[in-house]
Amino acid sequence: MYAFKKFKCPDYNSNLGLFLSAIILLKPSFADNINGESFPSNFIFGASTSAYQIEGAWNEDGKGEGVWDHITHVSNISIADRSSGDVACDSYHKVDEDIAMLKHLGVDYYRFSIAWSRIVPNGNVSQGVNLPGVMYYLRLLEKLERENISAMVTIFHYDLPQALSFPTMFIDENYNSLYVDYARLAFLLFGNKVKYWITFNEPQGVCTSFLEKYSTKPGTDSYTCTHNIIKCHAMTYWMYDSDFRDDQKGQVGIVLNTNWDEPASQDAKDIEAAKRKLLFEVGWYAHPLVFGDYPDEMKTRIRLYTFPWESSRLPKFTDEEKSLIKGTLDFIGLNHYSTSLVSDAPDPGLFRTYEKDLGILKTYDPSWEKTSLDWFYVVPFGLRKILNWLDETYKVPIIITENGYVEDGSPFLDDDRRINYYQTYLSNVLDAIYIDHVNVIGYFTWSLMDNWEWTSGYTQKFGLYYVNFSSPTRDRLPKKSVAYYKKVLKTRRLV
Ligand SMILES: *[C@@H]1O[C@H](CO)[C@@H](O)[C@H](O)[C@H]1NC(C)=O
Ligand SMILES: *[C@@H]1O[C@H](CO)[C@@H](O)[C@H](O)[C@H]1NC(C)=O
Ligand SMILES: *[C@@H]1O[C@H](CO)[C@@H](O)[C@H](O)[C@H]1NC(C)=O
Ligand SMILES: *[C@@H]1O[C@H](CO)[C@@H](O)[C@H](O)[C@H]1NC(C)=O
Repeated sequence: MYAFKKFKCPDYNSNLGLFLSAIILLKPSFADNINGESFPSNFIFGASTSAYQIEGAWNEDGKGEGVWDHITHVSNISIADRSSGDVACDSYHKVDEDIAMLKHLGVDYYRFSIAWSRIVPNGNVSQGVNLPGVMYYLRLLEKLERENISAMVTIFHYDLPQALSFPTMFIDENYNSLYVDYARLAFLLFGNKVKYWITFNEPQGVCTSFLEKYSTKPGTDSYTCTHNIIKCHAMTYWMYDSDFRDDQKGQVGIVLNTNWDEPASQDAKDIEAAKRKLLFEVGWYAHPLVFGDYPDEMKTRIRLYTFPWESSRLPKFTDEEKSLIKGTLDFIGLNHYSTSLVSDAPDPGLFRTYEKDLGILKTYDPSWEKTSLDWFYVVPFGLRKILNWLDETYKVPIIITENGYVEDGSPFLDDDRRINYYQTYLSNVLDAIYIDHVNVIGYFTWSLMDNWEWTSGYTQKFGLYYVNFSSPTRDRLPKKSVAYYKKVLKTRRLV
């Protein structure tokens, strides 16, 4: 989960809002009863976590400093509760307990990430590999295998080694080889126990929220960052293909995050804005990785907001690069939580940022169920619609790598709203499979347990399992949703 505040929503005219929601109510909507089909026998179910959010042990056994260690230690003011992941869920010391939870749930897969600085403290493989860190992941993978739980592993989930000190990495192409070397090391060490590899988790968040905040050239660096991440992904994909795939027989993909974006009105400008939002968020990565280049809409739009005497702020791929990046997704990982209403934004003038290039306003239908996060509404049909859009646009198998419900800690273990969320969202997955024939092959909940949610610290909870962050032993307790998810996995049905 990426809990940074995404786009600031300007106040929206409330009469207009009511008018727009009336239009939406008149539109044919998907049935809201629960789909009674069974999940296909080869459909995979899992639960997700990421290293910095659960491991703790931030400086143990030779681990190097990561960017999040740095951010939280040097200045924790941007974190809601001023906390850090220094201990988090203490998963570094609680492998057996984490695996017992996964086993209890009956998942086919566990999705976790490797902390780059735990196995390569300086970020540069030539400068040393940290054996105790390697052993931690090897032990985890061996124990999972013993319990018949397969592994989906994220190579990069936001936690860059501080030595590659952000923002140099990803805006300097000379650093790309460091990522590829690290990925090669991961394949070498762990690849015989990993079926699905994810090169990057939500890179769009890395290149926008992160960079737009810290960079002096936000409307330029964001695009350079993505350009380099796309090349890192493609080089890693072909390296796996040539050196590892025959032996290890795994799949390599990327994880992209997006809401479903519903046009806020039937005005052509708003319809265009909603489409543009998907292309700027998902198409920015998926178009190059599937078709070999950025969406035309992005090229035109960014050119429009670039001074005439400059070359476009969106870098260009050479023909050689286009053929390198094209067709490098075995699957698309989708992180999806919520839906928004999108309208065309008035032109704010001379600012040159990613957000301005995108040029949209987001609002929410007042009839949608709110959660404890201001951008997060419960809109189950949104998952079906984004699955359809991805399938129609890219025709690549889709795995839902994150989906789940947030609350702020109450009502403790009786998380009925979370159960409702899983049931209604999963029902839309079944609709997508059986009614729309979308090629979606797996579903992972976010998250296995409550954890450190980036700028929300410990104030926002997505876990199936509760974690007591006041207890030195970080005790875990199953919420009601554990029994629900377990039953779904066992019966492979929702009703
Ligand atoms: C982080 O926040 C806590 C709580 O406000 C404070 O006690 C601590 O000193 C802060 N740490 C840093 C490095 O700013
Ligand atoms: C794992 O699967 C194998 C083959 O299906 C089975 O023999 C074994 O008992 C399973 N182990 C566990 C711990 O479930
Ligand atoms: C990585 O480390 C090696 C050995 O110290 C060094 O020669 C190389 O320049 C480093 N790479 C980068 C991109 O810093
Ligand atoms: C959490 O841990 C604290 C400290 O050990 C303890 O006092 C408290 O009762 C625990 N809370 C729950 C819900 O178990």
